Amino acid sequence: MDRIRIVGGQRLNGTIPISGAKNATLPLMIASLLTADTLVLENVPRLADVRLLQHILGNHGVDVMIAGKRPGEPDNAGQTLHISAKNIVDTTAPYDLVSRMRASFWVIAPLVARMGEARVSMPGGCAIGTRPVDLLIMALEQLGAEIEIDGGYVVARARKGLRGGAIKFPKVTVSGTHVAVMAAALANGTTVIDNAACEPEIGDVADCLNKMGARISGAGTPRIVIEGVAKLNGARHAVLPDRIETGTYAMAVAMTGGDVLLQNTRPELLQAGLDVLVEAGVGITPTNEGIRVSRNGSALRPVAVTTQPFPGFPTDLQAQLMALMTRARGTSHITETIFENRFMHVQELARLGARIHLDGERATIEGVEKLKGAPVMATDLRASVSLVIAALAAEGETMVNRVYHLDRGFERLEAKLGACGAVIERISG
Ligand code: EPZ
Repeated sequence: MDRIRIVGGQRLNGTIPISGAKNATLPLMIASLLTADTLVLENVPRLADVRLLQHILGNHGVDVMIAGKRPGEPDNAGQTLHISAKNIVDTTAPYDLVSRMRASFWVIAPLVARMGEARVSMPGGCAIGTRPVDLLIMALEQLGAEIEIDGGYVVARARKGLRGGAIKFPKVTVSGTHVAVMAAALANGTTVIDNAACEPEIGDVADCLNKMGARISGAGTPRIVIEGVAKLNGARHAVLPDRIETGTYAMAVAMTGGDVLLQNTRPELLQAGLDVLVEAGVGITPTNEGIRVSRNGSALRPVAVTTQPFPGFPTDLQAQLMALMTRARGTSHITETIFENRFMHVQELARLGARIHLDGERATIEGVEKLKGAPVMATDLRASVSLVIAALAAEGETMVNRVYHLDRGFERLEAKLGACGAVIERISG
């Protein structure tokens, strides 16, 4: 199993190219099931989750072709996927695949919408909480699907096709909104989704679906209206920049000090996150090319932050902010409201010398003078990268174990940080 070795204490200076968003790529790949034509996705990040989803879609008969690098194209350019779901050979998504990646459960929506049936394993719990799928099922039922739970599988049927309906989510859910939008795109009639998630990835998927011939308006707001169409076509779409990768590197620079341009990204994708960094004393300057992040000499100020659905502070940056605040001058408070168990990084940060007290959903972080390197590991992607951020500022060597979590969501992490002066290497085996 690979590990990452980091020797802390170097400032970061230079440029970090930001990749396409993992959490847009996955639903976009799944949306390819809605059409018999080819969907071309550009700016796709090279991630373990993308490869795994490719494998999962292959099981349904989807053909994915990865275009080669064009002459003169830089190594860090995203890849282009040509995805064809011309022949869907199987409408079952088995347990051994769905349990490896929760988002693959979302295939239920395009499969039932296009094929009239889907049999998809329930994903089960995961490291960050129980994560039920009741609201996804509710949305499909509102569109006329008949749902049965059978042997750990959700079986959805709509022999005569789905019909438009009213879906009101009792809480904001990204997965529920993706599923509702994809299913409603091919339903007969109009669907109105209220209390929809407003995350930029929802807007990106809706943009792509509209290029495919869907009629979706209001994506990115709490009310989305979808006029169903009988058929969708192929399209070409470039994945939007990864706002969580952007925020993660912004926090890494804030942690070490230095001056880095985060290239190919946009501030409006993570304004709440950038506002918190400014409050902490970090320099944030939007430029034509991306976002410049700098901290030179000044101490970090403590902050009080609560995670919220977009446009609030994202839960996917909570662990990284906590790592940063371990070095603030004073006491910070972070409240996690999205997932009930997303604090696994706390004990590992403590191994590096952090002082964090947990009380239910609230963490109190007392800033310390210095962190000291140690062997650490984490059980999810964002928690793992928070340990990398802490390690970059820790004295001596930190060994981050279970690197496969990082590989699920961060493309060439050690190369991107190494190019800016971090002492970081992957140790294979
Ligand atoms: C997406 O997960 C992201 N995953 C997560 O990214 C992210 O943390 C999360 O949204 C919140 O922003 C992808 O996009 C692939 P939700 P999702 O449905 O869609 C509850 C990462 O590290 N809920 O918005 O699964 C749920 O338990 C990750 O990249 C129900 O109760 O999140 C949670 O408390 C991990 N019933 C809340 O809603 C349901 O049927 C929000 O979940 C569905 C959700």
